[in-house]
Parts: sequence; structure tokens; C-alpha cells
Amino acid sequence: MPHPRLLASILVLALAGCDGGMEDPLRPDSGVPPGTDGGGGGGSDGGGPPTGDTTYYGHVRPILVENCTMCHQPTGIAPFALQTYEEASEVGERMAEITAARIMPPFLADNSGECQTFSNHRGLTDAEIATIGRWVEQGMLEGDPSTPAPTPSELPSLGTADLTLEMPDTYAIMQGMDDDYRCFVIETGTTADTYVTGYEVHPGNTQRVHHVIVYNPTSDAAAREARNLDATEGAVGDGYQCFGGPRVDAAPMVLWAPGAGATLFPRGTGVQLAAGRAQVVQIHYNNLVRGAPTDDRTRVDLRTASSASPAYIVPLAHTGIVLPPRMASVTQTTSQSLSVLPVPVRAHGMFPHMHTLGRQLRVERTGSSDECLIDVPRWDFNWQLAYWFTRPITIQPSDTVSITCTYNTMSRDDTVRWGDGTQDEMCLNFFYLTL
Ligand code: HEC
Repeated sequence: MPHPRLLASILVLALAGCDGGMEDPLRPDSGVPPGTDGGGGGGSDGGGPPTGDTTYYGHVRPILVENCTMCHQPTGIAPFALQTYEEASEVGERMAEITAARIMPPFLADNSGECQTFSNHRGLTDAEIATIGRWVEQGMLEGDPSTPAPTPSELPSLGTADLTLEMPDTYAIMQGMDDDYRCFVIETGTTADTYVTGYEVHPGNTQRVHHVIVYNPTSDAAAREARNLDATEGAVGDGYQCFGGPRVDAAPMVLWAPGAGATLFPRGTGVQLAAGRAQVVQIHYNNLVRGAPTDDRTRVDLRTASSASPAYIVPLAHTGIVLPPRMASVTQTTSQSLSVLPVPVRAHGMFPHMHTLGRQLRVERTGSSDECLIDVPRWDFNWQLAYWFTRPITIQPSDTVSITCTYNTMSRDDTVRWGDGTQDEMCLNFFYLTL
């Protein structure tokens, strides 16, 4: 999936000029205002008094409503609801563990400041985590049910779309497997080049759609290849199976998981969408939910502009990974220059990617400064997210960037290599770059 061609396209498009002057990105994708340490979840009485009772209605419910119930509700992606005292107290201990370990709400990149901070970070503050812990320690007191219910903050919305990618038909999610990864080829119908500057995903099946990634083919030939794959598997329009990537030369443009509202790309920037080029929409359907509908028709709304400072989605990949079987931990690393141009580039966002054996991923740069660019200490294939820097990072042409991936291959009997398939792995990070 990583393609020298993308690098080459930077070279070509560099001549289109840059307008610099990027302001801080405006990205409301998590509904959490840009912040630094553990920002988000504001509004709740997270701190709480150090003494006195910590109760569900008084202290815990506001935290759950603000950070959890968008997924943990009957029509959400999470396997159980957290909307009542009974539901919360049933899993109270697990909740305390999982929030203390910062596993929930899902956000995989370290946001502590030791390796960057991200404007779309979601997570509980230390005080909120302590509140849940104290509530459990004190025996999960209920408190006063007449306490007014907090209103969840609204997810940001795109408003009217300039362009919509909609599945042509309802898709019958493949059953008999835990997960169905499906790529739909969707025509844009555009007759001129345009720039995508933001997006909002409307899942047709909120209980099963676990992630949506729109891959933008790097050429018309790649888009044709995707159409061919669609035509050879089942009915045309029904898409094709695709586990770890689109199976054609393409770069991710939209990354969405439940609980996110609209995403706007950094102000003034956009991803070029070639006239008439079909897009590949990858949807991960989670079948481990009982009783949910088994069909889906998902729609992706796009905000577009006729001009923008072009963004390049550039891969940094270790395609040479060779992972021996039966290893609790195997780490591989590679490094390269990010730019083929003698000019600096600005990195705004990161899209890390591995498959199910992946455990850790880290990207660093050396040169003009030595620093960590993203650190994912506990990779989870189920959460394919985009991470937007609080401040864009300038990368000099003389800089080297490296990617280091760690895997657990205990479940395998054969050597694992790079590839798209369920038995293959990847060690990959896409940068969202502008000049
Ligand atoms: C973006 C959606 C989403 C948000 C937000 C979210 N969860 Fe979850 N949660 C899930 C899903 C999906 C699972 C099932 C496991 C998985 O896919 O990671 C889960 C699993 C869990 C589990 C069980 C994990 C285990 O291993 O036993 C707990 C406990 C939990 N969530 C608590 C919370 C709490 C508390 C919050 C808020 C602080 C929260 N979640 C926010 C989607 C979410």
C-alpha cells in the first residue's frame, strides 16, 4: 500500500506553490475542544471533594454521559449500555480498571506530552479517573436519582454536504464471521478536480459499523482496478472483501469511528479529489452484537472547495517486515527521508496502521530535532483513528523519519510478512502533509 508514486506526486504538486500560514487546525471530530493533557470531559464535577461520598448521580453519571454513552447505548457500537445506575454498577470495577489504564474512551496515541499532544484527543482527566475509582471503592453508591440528568454535548456537524458518497444499495452484512471488512466502490460523479476539506460519516447501522475509511485511489487505473474487484465478487455495487486495506493503490482520506462528529481538515488545506475518480469506502462491520440489524447503507458527506493548500497523504512504511512465528514480542524498524523536495513540509496529522498482531507503533524523526512524532503503546486494530497534532510540525528535507512496530506472533505457525490479507501484517503510518 505505500507508494513511491505518492512521493513523486509531492514533487509535481510542489510546483503548484504553497500558501503557508496555517493556523491552528480546527478539528471538531471528537467533540472535544483542542486541549493538552487529558482535556475533554469538561463540565463534570470530576475533581470532586477529597472527602465525602462519591455517588453515581452526583459524580459518575456526568462523566459517563460526556465520554461514554455515545457508544455505550442500545443503538451504539459498544457491547453494553452505560446509561443507568444498574448498568454502570454492574461493570463498575471493570470500568475503573479500564479508565485507569486509559483504554476507554478509545484513543490509542500517547497524549501525555511525552510524545506530542493531539487536538482531537479524547480521554478522561486524572480527576475523572480518580472519581470513578473512588466511587467503586466506596461501594458504588447510588446518590439522589432526582439529580437533573446532564445533557450530552452535541457532536459537531458538517451541515449541508457539497458531495455525498453513498453506498448504491443496502448491503447484507456477511454473517458467520466475527468481522466483515468490505470495500465499496463509490462514484463521485464530479467533472472537475476539487479539494476535500472535511467530512462526516452517517453509519446506516450504528450497532455494526465499527469503522469507515475512505481510500482515495492514486490514479484512474487504481480506481478501475477497484471497480474490477467489485465486479468479480458478487453483484456490482456490493463491494469486495478487504481486510487490512483497499487492495489497490490508494491513500486514506477519511478515517472515522463511532462517537466522532464531523471532521474539518486543518484550515485552508484539502485533499485533492480528481474529477470523476471513484472512491473506495472500507467499512468494518462488527458481528459480535446480538440482535442488531444485519444490513447497512452508510453515507459519507464531504465538504469540498475548488481550491485549497493541497495536502498529501504520504506513507512511511516498513514493507520488509519478516516476523517469525511464536514470538511474544518482535520489533522491526525502518527509516527514510519523508520528502524528496529541498523544502520543509508541515505535518498536521498521523494515521498509524497495523493489523491484529500489532502491539506497539512509534514514529520518530531525527535531524533538525530529535523527537517522537507519535507513540501508540497499545495498538488495537479495532480503532483505526486519525491523530491531529495540537500544533503542526515542520519537517526539514534533511530529516529522517523512522517507524518502529512491535508484534506478538504467538498465534501463528508461519512467518508473517507485509500484505493486505488477514494473515499478513503492516507497519505503516500516513502523514497528512502540506508545504
Ligand atoms: C467510541 C466508542 C466508545 C466510547 C466513547 C467508549 N467506549 Fe467503552 N467500549 C466500546 C467498544 C466498541 C467496546 C468493546 C471492546 C472494543 O471494541 O474495544 C467497549 C468496551 C468497554 C468495556 C469492556 C472492556 C473489557 O475489556 O472488559 C468497558 C468497561 C468500557 N468500554 C467502558 C467505557 C467507559 C467507562 C467509557 C467512557 C469513559 C467508554 N467505555 C467509552 C466503545 C466505546
